[in-house]
Amino acid sequence: MKKDVISLQHLPAADIIHLIKQAVEMKKEPDKYTNALSGRVLLMLFQKTSTRTRLSFELGIGQLGGRAVMMDWQSSNFAISPIRYEAKYVSRHVDLIMARLIKHEQLLELAAGADVPVINGCCNRYHPTQGLADLLTIYEKTGDFSRATLAYIGIHNNVANSLVAGALKTGLRLILITPEVNPGSWDADLMAAAARSGLIEVTADLQKAREADFVYTDTWVDMENFHNPAYAEEKERRLKMMMPYQMRAEIFAGRELPYIMHDMPIHPGLEIEAGLIEAPTSVIYEQAENRLHVEKSLMLYLLS
Ligand code: CP
Repeated sequence: MKKDVISLQHLPAADIIHLIKQAVEMKKEPDKYTNALSGRVLLMLFQKTSTRTRLSFELGIGQLGGRAVMMDWQSSNFAISPIRYEAKYVSRHVDLIMARLIKHEQLLELAAGADVPVINGCCNRYHPTQGLADLLTIYEKTGDFSRATLAYIGIHNNVANSLVAGALKTGLRLILITPEVNPGSWDADLMAAAARSGLIEVTADLQKAREADFVYTDTWVDMENFHNPAYAEEKERRLKMMMPYQMRAEIFAGRELPYIMHDMPIHPGLEIEAGLIEAPTSVIYEQAENRLHVEKSLMLYLLS
C-alpha cells in the first residue's frame, strides 16, 4: 500500500526517528545519495505561495537523481475538475506528489485519488515537513528529544499541530503559549492525545517560555490573507491582540537566551522582535536549510 504523509501523527514513532537520523547522514554525506532516486519524478502542486517548500523539494529530488515538475493549481485543470480524476491521471506519469493546498479536505481528496504517495506541503491543518525539519534542528542541538523543552508562542495553527504530533512521537516536552486558535486548524483527537501524554502544556502565560531550551514562533496571519483586503479588519484585530505575545528578548531577562526558532517567512516587529532573528542563539536559517535534508530523507523513505 502506498504511504501518504498528511500529518506526522500517522507516521510510526520509529519511522520518524529513522527519518531524522537518515537526514543527519544525508546532510553529512550528500554525495552517497546522488543516484538514490535516479529517474524518479516528483510533481509539486501549489495553490499558495512558497519559498522554502518549493526550493527545497525541487533541489532535493534533483540531488537524489530525480526531477521535479512544478504545477500551479490555478493555471492547471485541477482548478476546474474533481480532484480525484486529475490525481489519477498525474499518477500515470509521476512517482510522488507534494501538494500545498489551502484546505485539508482537498488534500485528503488528492491523496485518495492518487495512486502514488502524497506529501502534504502545508494545508490549513498540518505542515509535516516543517515539523520534521524542526525535529531535525532540535535533534542536532540536543541528540536526545527527551531532554529538551520547546515553547511555541503564537496562534495555534498548522505548525503548532505538527509540533504537537512531533512531540508525541519523540518525547519532546512542548509548551504551547497560544491565546488563540486558527479556525480550521483545531484537531480535537490530536489535542486529546496531547492532554493524555503529560508532555504538552497549553497556556496563555508568556512567562512559561522561560522554561524552554528552544522557543519558536510563526506568523499570526496566514500567507494567503496577509495582503487580502477582505481580511484587513481581522488582521488588525489579530495583530493588536497578539502584540503582547511577540517573541522578544525581554521575556528571557536574567537567563541565557534559548535557541530561537521560526519557520519563515518572518514578519519582524510582529511575531518576533527584529533583534532576535539573527541573535547568537538563533537557529532559524539552520531550521530552514533542514527542510532540504529532511525532505530528501522523506522522499527516499517513501520511494525506496
Ligand atoms: N516554512 C515554509 O513552509 O516556507 P514557505 O512558505 O516559503 O514554503
